[in-house]
Amino acid sequence: MEELHIAQGSKTDRYRLLLEQVRSVTEGESDLIANMANTASMIHETFGFWWTGFYRVQGDELVLGPFQGPLACTRIKRGRGVCGTAWAKGQTLVVPNVDHFPGHIACSSASRSEIVVPLMDAQGKVMAVLDIDSDQLNTFDSEDAQWLEKIAGTIKA
Ligand code: SME
Repeated sequence: MEELHIAQGSKTDRYRLLLEQVRSVTEGESDLIANMANTASMIHETFGFWWTGFYRVQGDELVLGPFQGPLACTRIKRGRGVCGTAWAKGQTLVVPNVDHFPGHIACSSASRSEIVVPLMDAQGKVMAVLDIDSDQLNTFDSEDAQWLEKIAGTIKA
């Protein structure tokens, strides 16, 4: 397998290459955990975020899945925190300042901004979320949301 080539250009250039790499690594593999693990790694290595990982829907909770970064909360109830809210709404949430998000769950006090992208199953139900935390304010915008939705869309249950 080839080594990850990290683009040095603009955010758009980096995401374009990242999406290609995620597709090529995941398309021949059917195991969900393996694909989540490599995807978290590729996103994390490309941008140097504070925490990048997945939570999977298990009953009425999200349960921690593959991630890169420091220790994280293991279980999050539906509707709780940014992750549980993105799950309940079935939509991407961009949080420029986590201190201004009511109910934000601080797994790490270093986390300042966050984006959470739901992953859908074949029936259109949320089966997991991709959660990325930054130690800087205002890290994520609508461009991140669009690219990360494409990346999340490559992962099939
Ligand atoms: N901050 C998230 C919890 C997950 S951790 O940050 C990894 C939230 O409010 O849902």
